[in-house]
Amino acid sequence: EPTSGHFCDSRKAHPMSKLINEAIMNNDFLMKLEPQHMREMVDCMYEKIYIANQLVIQEGEPGNYLYVLAEGLLEVMQNGKLLGQMRPGTAFGELAILYNCKRTATVKAVTQSYIWALDRQTFQSIMMRSTQARHEEY
Ligand code: CMP
Repeated sequence: EPTSGHFCDSRKAHPMSKLINEAIMNNDFLMKLEPQHMREMVDCMYEKIYIANQLVIQEGEPGNYLYVLAEGLLEVMQNGKLLGQMRPGTAFGELAILYNCKRTATVKAVTQSYIWALDRQTFQSIMMRSTQARHEEY
């Protein structure tokens, strides 16, 4: 998994922001987040490149990143059994981040893949900041 040490940039309006936003909106678990949370998440994501056959997520490990596939092809496996494939515009790795559980499946790059990542600490601080900002309104 990627290492920390990045920054958030709301000015860059990176070309992937639309794809990332739509991926988050299409995810059953992430779609419940507020629009402001989603915007900040997009601003704080950074790109990682995985080569063919490289593992993105290992089942059973603690998870510290949430991902969005921008380009490439991934496969999802559980107990060595293929569950399916992921195509660009898919958000994944949300379960361990949201529910503080172990990774429920293995995710592997089939081809070279461009993946946007958000680390748990940044995710949590976004949620905290927005909650505080809301409290201050009252
Ligand atoms: P997480 O458990 O954090 O890490 C593995 C990810 O794979 C998981 O979050 C989901 O995003 C994804 N995932 C789990 N089960 C399936 C499935 N049956 N089909 C597609 N994706 C899955």
